[in-house]
Parts: sequence; C-alpha cells; structure tokens
Amino acid sequence: MILITGGAGYIGSHCALEFIKNNEKIIIFDNLSTGHIETIEMLKKINPNIIFIKGDLKNLQEIEDVFKKYKIECVFHFASLSIVQESAKNPQYYYENNVMGSINLLNAMVKYKVLKIIFSSSAAIFGEPKYLPIDENHPKNPINPYGKNKLEIENILDDFDKKYNLKSIKLRYFNVIGANKKDLLGEWHDRETHLIPNIIKSAINQKTFEIYGDNYNTKDGTCIRDYIDINDLIKAHHSAYLYLEKNNKSDDFNLGAKQGMSVKEILKTTEKVLNQKIDYKISQKRQNEPSVLISDNTKANKILNWEAETLLSDSIKSACQWELKLQKKSI
Ligand SMILES: NC(=O)c1ccc[n+]([C@@H]2O[C@H](COP(=O)([O-])OP(=O)(O)OC[C@H]3O[C@@H](n4cnc5c(N)ncnc54)[C@H](O)[C@@H]3O)[C@@H](O)[C@H]2O)c1
Repeated sequence: MILITGGAGYIGSHCALEFIKNNEKIIIFDNLSTGHIETIEMLKKINPNIIFIKGDLKNLQEIEDVFKKYKIECVFHFASLSIVQESAKNPQYYYENNVMGSINLLNAMVKYKVLKIIFSSSAAIFGEPKYLPIDENHPKNPINPYGKNKLEIENILDDFDKKYNLKSIKLRYFNVIGANKKDLLGEWHDRETHLIPNIIKSAINQKTFEIYGDNYNTKDGTCIRDYIDINDLIKAHHSAYLYLEKNNKSDDFNLGAKQGMSVKEILKTTEKVLNQKIDYKISQKRQNEPSVLISDNTKANKILNWEAETLLSDSIKSACQWELKLQKKSI
C-alpha cells in the first residue's frame, strides 16, 4: 500500500488520482487544515476503496497507528503548510507543522521498517539564485522559513538514510499550475496566494488584479517564475517512484519547465486564453521573495526520462475551467 500524506490538498490529490487509475491501494492521511473533504469524496467516487484517515502529523501516535494497522511500502509526503509570507509571520507554527511533523512521520516509518519516501520539496530551498537556470548543485540558501523548513527536512532525510537506510527522492517543485484535464480536481486553497488562480479569480469576478512589485531586477520589473503543469508533475512522481523501486537509492530532482515567465507575461497569456482584458494595479512588493527562479530540469530529463510537455496556455485553460467549476460550487 502507498501512504499519501496531504492527499486532500492540491498536488497530493492529483497524485492519489493517478494511483487510483493504476489500481494501486492507497491511504490518504490529512488533517484537512488546507485540504478539503470534498476532494476525498470525489476520489472515493472513482474508487470507494481508498482509505482516508483524518490525522495530524504533529501527533506521533496518530501517524504511528497508520503504520501499525496497514502494510505500507512507500510514502508520498505532500503534507505541509506552504505560504511563504505566513511562514515569515509565524515561523514557529511552520517549524512545528512542517519539520516536527516530518520527523514524526520518519520516526514512524523507521519503527515499522518502511524505508522509501518521495518528498515534496521546493525551489524555495535555493533562495536568491547565484546563476540560472538552477540545477541540483546550486547553493542552498533559503531566504524564508518555509524554504528553510524544506531544506531542513531534506537534510534530515539524508541523515536518516545514513543511519537507518531510509531512501528518499526529493522533488523540488517550481510553481505548480493547472488542473486535472477532465476537470475532476484542481487547485483549491481557501486562502489563495498563487498567481494564476488569483488572476483567474480577478477575471471571473471582474476585480482589479494586484501585481506585487514592478521594480524587481527583471526585464519588465515583475517577478519571474518557472511554471510546471500538475499533470507533468505527477508523471515525474510516477517516474521517481519507479526509479526508487528499481535502484533503492536516495536522490533529488528539480522539477520545472526550464522557462521563466514574468507576472506580466502570465497576465497577458491569461487574457488571451480567456479572451478578456484583466484590469491590474501595482501594489507593494512582497518580502522574502527572490526576483527570478528558473529550473534546470536536465537531470530529471536524463535520469527519470521525464519532460515538461504541457503548454502554458493549456495549463491556464485547465485552471480556468476548474476555477469556474469551483466558483459555481459544482464540485
Ligand atoms: N503548489 C506549489 O506550487 C508547490 C511548489 C513547491 C512545493 N510545493 C509543496 O508541495 C506539497 C503540496 O502542496 P499543495 O499546493 O498541494 O498544498 P495544499 O495546501 O493544497 O496541500 C497540503 C495538504 O497537507 C495537509 N496538511 C498540512 N499539514 C498537515 C499535517 N500536520 N498533518 C496532516 N496533513 C497536513 C493539508 O490539509 C493539505 O491537504 C507541499 O509540501 C508544498 O510545500 C508546492
């Protein structure tokens, strides 16, 4: 059986759906702090046999009980708080949830001899880039508590490999976008901080979109990020899982499209997709945000035989369809 922590959230639920399609047995463990029970209900409609456990990684007993009860072979660890600005406001809450929660999970794994994990890491571990695109050897100097949490967990995973032979694949996502192509799932954060869903919300609700800062050191002054489609990202998880099964070795991969897009470029592409002008204004720059992040995905191309294939406009289209469904509450 596969354990998916954070499977009621955006990326974890898409991963769960992929396993359901492949007839794998899965258990989702989630405290529903940012995930949704409706997402679990949707997954259950496709396969009623999936097991959902409402539990919190901060509680060692709750996660240990899962390993005690079920025979788990591999863990996909998505559960995390992941809002950069919130992490700077309340670092203690982030260290407790993300780092201590992960330590509880790893302790339970070691106790029950489950020695394989795929971990959702982030481009935030790199901080301000020293060079672009960012490869796996790029210096790791995170500039916010969220990025520091992720790097800490990566380091702990390496130490658990040395001491307990626990093998991990760390997948460092850049900016994940888009939705399931059949509209079944999509990005659903009650407090949305991500760019594309917020542009789409502004367009649908005819509200002015806020661009946070236009004086970054970039071609048009707005932040540049590398956007990776959720469907491509899930394929990378599948390849990483097969790689771990075959080689039983720890490794790490940067996952992005190797293409940088500015906020203004994303806004323009969304306008084209929706065939609608979107009103915007420039607001104050957010703290703790690097100006440019672009991934070098060569290692994942070569070793995982994986490529980012989806066009940005297609990702935006799927995100728009999903957002409309969400707003009509027809999920
Ligand atoms: N979305 C992105 O662009 C992006 C980029 C880089 C990395 N990541 C990482 O990918 C993972 C998934 O991100 P997402 O966008 O799906 O986030 P999400 O908030 O939609 O999902 C996270 C899930 O984890 C659950 N969770 C949080 N703390 C928990 C705890 N202590 N115990 C049990 N469950 C808990 C939440 O309820 C939620 O369902 C996270 O680790 C995130 O840091 C995401």
